[in-house]
Amino acid sequence: MDALLGTCSLPQLRRRRSVKWRTHPADVLPAFVAEMDFDLAQPVVRAVTAALATGDCGYPHKGTLGEAYAAFAADRLGWDVDPARVHPIPDVMTGLAEVVEAITPPGSGIVINPPVYPPFHFRFGFYGRRIIEAPLARDEAGRYQLDRAAIEAALSQPGAAAYLLCSPHNPTGNVWSAGQLEMAADLCQCHGAALLVDEIHAPLVLPGARFVPFGSLRHEMTGQAFVFTSASKGWNIPGLKCGIAIAGSEAGSALLERRSEALLAAHLGVLASAAALTEGRPWLDAARGQLDQNRVLLADLLREHLPGVGYVQPQASFLAWLDCRALGLGDDPSAVFLDRGRVAVGRGPDFGGQGRGFVRLNIGTSPELIAEAVRRMASACRT
Ligand SMILES: Cc1ncc(COP(=O)(O)O)c(C=O)c1O
Repeated sequence: MDALLGTCSLPQLRRRRSVKWRTHPADVLPAFVAEMDFDLAQPVVRAVTAALATGDCGYPHKGTLGEAYAAFAADRLGWDVDPARVHPIPDVMTGLAEVVEAITPPGSGIVINPPVYPPFHFRFGFYGRRIIEAPLARDEAGRYQLDRAAIEAALSQPGAAAYLLCSPHNPTGNVWSAGQLEMAADLCQCHGAALLVDEIHAPLVLPGARFVPFGSLRHEMTGQAFVFTSASKGWNIPGLKCGIAIAGSEAGSALLERRSEALLAAHLGVLASAAALTEGRPWLDAARGQLDQNRVLLADLLREHLPGVGYVQPQASFLAWLDCRALGLGDDPSAVFLDRGRVAVGRGPDFGGQGRGFVRLNIGTSPELIAEAVRRMASACRT
């Protein structure tokens, strides 16, 4: 592995106290929650330690975050963003929830595309909104697509007020084309629905895929949309609590400004995110290179040890969505893998009914630990 990423030594990782490393006993290999095992990017470490050294632990100030994100978006994503439209938020889900609360009436329906990141299913219920499902379409080869007819039907339901698009998509790893994004935007425009786009995995788009930032489209909906992103997945710093909301319009920006007291990021997270986006690019490239290798390695390992598992390599990020239905382990194979194999993977049904018989495996780690995870999964099938 690239020296920037470290070695992912298991004894060292077990000293971490985050949810990945403290949820299960020490004989379980954790590969569930979306934390990566690489060492932190040095610019992030320097930004945080410099702040600690000067007692700089107060309330957040936006500082250079807007400029840092705008430069990253221009250089890496081909998107011109006005730094004034970039707002720090504590995390993507809180930003989404606050905007949903602000722009949709109580009781509204929020359209999502399952299988999708579990909090999309339950978080808006805390605010009296309900979920309307527009499942992704899946072909025989296991590839997913946005389903125009399903989105149209969902947006046609009474009370459907917003569409939440995950781009790139978790857990399928899809990077949506410009045409697919335009289709979603057209449907929202036609049905008068708000559009919220979660681009948290965009920094980790892998070689061969072309990520299209929603805001870079030539479409009227870009002016009305809110885009959410973060350095938290790309640089593995969710514990530092800083996400980014980008408003498509002056009015959207003013809305985020009015709610800024409800959306306070952590000061250390703002500093770390600005450092990651500017000086952390070599580390990001090393991580993307490793993930590119890891997704291929996983295909080889599955072919050898678990040939019954369906797997389409992700186009982005470090999450592999595995179809385990042919293994005959029931709706929740993760329970069997944990119980008999001592490996903790993500529960498929948490991503929606479409995830029954599936699991999500985290490959943001070393080749050795991926091989160990597959070995444990395979051993669970033999016992
Ligand atoms: C699609 C998606 N959105 C949001 C999040 C959570 O981000 P945050 O911690 O900023 O809320 C994740 C975490 O894995 C995610 O995959």
